[in-house]
Amino acid sequence: ERVLTVALLGGGTVGSQVARILLDDAEALTARAGARLELAGIAVRNVGAPRDVELPRELYTTDAEGLVARADLVIELMGGIEPARTHILAALRHGASVVTGNKALLAQDGATLFDEADANDAELNFEAAVAGAIPIIRPIRESLSGDRITRVLGIVNGTTNFILDSMDTTGAQFADVLAEAQRLGYAEADPTADVEGLDAAAKAAILASLAFHTRVSLDDVRCEGITKVSAADIAAAQDAGMTIKLLAIAELVADGAHGAGTGKGEGVSVRVHPTLLPRTHPLAAVHGAYNAVFVEAENAGSLMFYGAGAGGAPTASAIMGDVVTTARRIVAGSPGRAGTATRVLPIVGPESITTSY
Ligand code: NDP
Ligand code: HSE
Repeated sequence: ERVLTVALLGGGTVGSQVARILLDDAEALTARAGARLELAGIAVRNVGAPRDVELPRELYTTDAEGLVARADLVIELMGGIEPARTHILAALRHGASVVTGNKALLAQDGATLFDEADANDAELNFEAAVAGAIPIIRPIRESLSGDRITRVLGIVNGTTNFILDSMDTTGAQFADVLAEAQRLGYAEADPTADVEGLDAAAKAAILASLAFHTRVSLDDVRCEGITKVSAADIAAAQDAGMTIKLLAIAELVADGAHGAGTGKGEGVSVRVHPTLLPRTHPLAAVHGAYNAVFVEAENAGSLMFYGAGAGGAPTASAIMGDVVTTARRIVAGSPGRAGTATRVLPIVGPESITTSY
């Protein structure tokens, strides 16, 4: 029986659920992956911290570097830029494959990681990085790779949708709802990334890069969060038959649109902002921490992907899908290419952010 050594970096909201699945479903996962996935350890900051999920104590370690050095497959769920980036690069350099949910790192420095994966014939997969449990990366990267995607539009942050939805349905105060979203495991370690729109912007950059086969980073995304949305704004929207949602919008536009660019060929516009939507719009029906992503493609037409966008178990589902797929390819000796950019499209930003769609 082939055995793959798995290193799990991070044992928090998502990491603990991934460890639970790896241990509880070991037999089924072995059959599906074609190899036994042996969890060698879980790297954390504090091995003695109380944990929501009961796991064998001896799995916890602070030696992430040592764990990575002996792994065939590294699952990165620490979050943040460093030391996550250093550990991922170290793993890829010794030929290990990596699964991560770290959209902040991918949006900031994805190109470096993809290049390193390709240089070492290793896999780098990140289905969980956008919209939690919803399969959206693989459909864009693979299923639609023979089509021409023209626009991606969606609710991609569970925390802000949970907050706006609660404010809309119960008239609750922003701060109280944020605390609840944190308690439920939806928010980032620093929830500023959620409420200021940066988490959605990172996801928009990843989606735009994949959809348009180019490179879009966090700095290219025009972004406004929900901190200035008041109860009075929500009441006014309700009176007008509307609701307010934080939307991520990525579209192919003529280079030169919005008064920027060269006026030749195509460009990309990517933005995140609170948006007034008619209550009859399908996105108005996305409640709680759920996410939804619309994809418009030349031949496929409009597609909609919907589901749980945040939370430990839903996100762990996406991570485990990547783990099984990655393990299969390791066993078959045929890693897929990580690099996705086949061209460089100019970023054509709107002069100012609009709040209607
Ligand atoms: P948590 O904050 O709950 O967990 C982070 C884990 O990483 C903790 O176990 C922590 O250790 C460990 N860790 C952090 N820094 C270090 C370090 N320097 N050295 C060793 N261990 C470290 O985060 P989440 O589980 O919520 O998120 C993990 C990743 O998944 C992030 O990239 C996030 O953006 C992404 N993600 C999260 C989703 C969610 O709904 N929560 C959804 C989709 C993606 P300790 O426990 O000792 O503090
Ligand atoms: N903090 C993120 C959210 C987690 O609320 O959507 C999922 O990426």
